[in-house]
Amino acid sequence: MSTGWSLYVIVLIVANVVGCAWLLFANRSVRIDPRQKGESTGHDFDGIEELNNPLPAWWTWLFIATIVFSIGYFVLYPGFGSYPGVLGWTSANQHEAEVARMAEKTGPLFSRFYGTPIAELVSNEQAVGMGSRIFANNCSTCHGSDARGGPGFPNLTDDDWLYGGAPDTIVQTITGGRNGMMPPFAPVLGGDENVKDVIEYVLSLSGREHDAARAERGAAQFAAICSACHQADGRGNPMMGAPNLTDDVWLHGGRRSDIERAMHQGIMSQMPAHAEILSKEKIHLVATYVYSLSHGGGAGAR
Ligand code: HEC
Ligand code: HEC
Repeated sequence: MSTGWSLYVIVLIVANVVGCAWLLFANRSVRIDPRQKGESTGHDFDGIEELNNPLPAWWTWLFIATIVFSIGYFVLYPGFGSYPGVLGWTSANQHEAEVARMAEKTGPLFSRFYGTPIAELVSNEQAVGMGSRIFANNCSTCHGSDARGGPGFPNLTDDDWLYGGAPDTIVQTITGGRNGMMPPFAPVLGGDENVKDVIEYVLSLSGREHDAARAERGAAQFAAICSACHQADGRGNPMMGAPNLTDDVWLHGGRRSDIERAMHQGIMSQMPAHAEILSKEKIHLVATYVYSLSHGGGAGAR
């Protein structure tokens, strides 16, 4: 908060508290002989008259108590401009304390499984169940509640992997995140005709209907440019996250128009790192769940 705003808030608070106190005491100083009927305000309803009497004492004391309370509150807690209060309380540190208390309570629950290798843990129903709940809370927004993904978000239940499906690789993917990046190659290919040729070649790789003459010309382009990442045979390279183009699993569509878009716009696909979001014990469990989905016989296989 800037000093100006802080001062503005302080002035408002002081004016309000002092104003209330003044109002209270100013009205209290009206002394009225209890034996006499008070002065009428002139308001009269069905013979019931409103008198201009001071507040009863207990009521006045209630107001004084609220004023004392507010002053005590502003001393202890933040609120008086940018003054933090002597307790140093903030909603952020309250939240942190609660999270820490929770972690202390639930920590042993998660760390119990940390020592067991994922390939073994996958047959432990309880561990896979815990992993699936971590998945539902952290991963399903992108990968779907059934982990089958969607356009741009990989299906984690099949045995087709961009980066590899070994336990360690899955842990690494979740912990550090991944950046699937392919630059737009249309400018490099030089001209629409060449782009069309290479697209026909990509279609031929997965045995789909294609223009054979174009595909033949495209093969040379592919070998020169695309094979650096997708390999000479088009089967991809998990080290670079370059997908296999010879199967019928398509992350970004795979129709002629989808491939053309990828050539012109490139692809940017990001799996966020979870090292800061999940403890390594939780990552171990959610990785176990992911592993179970594609390794039949696991407790999580459906
Ligand atoms: C620098 C490495 C690199 C080169 C070179 C490269 N690609 Fe890619 N390509 C990738 C990566 C990485 C992805 C996956 C992006 C992601 O993670 O979603 C990809 C994805 C694709 C896809 C989408 C696959 C899907 O499952 O939907 C197609 C099609 C494709 N590339 C075709 C090509 C063609 C054709 C060329 C040559 C003109 C080429 N790529 C050159 C790295 C490369
Ligand atoms: C913000 C969206 C998002 C969230 C949240 C997310 N992911 Fe991902 N994830 C992606 C994207 C996008 C990719 C593909 C990256 C690429 O194309 O290079 C991916 C890739 C992966 C892969 C690699 C798949 C392969 O074929 O190699 C795994 C495993 C994975 N995610 C697991 C998880 C788990 C487990 C969680 C939860 C802890 C999670 N993801 C949360 C978007 C997300």
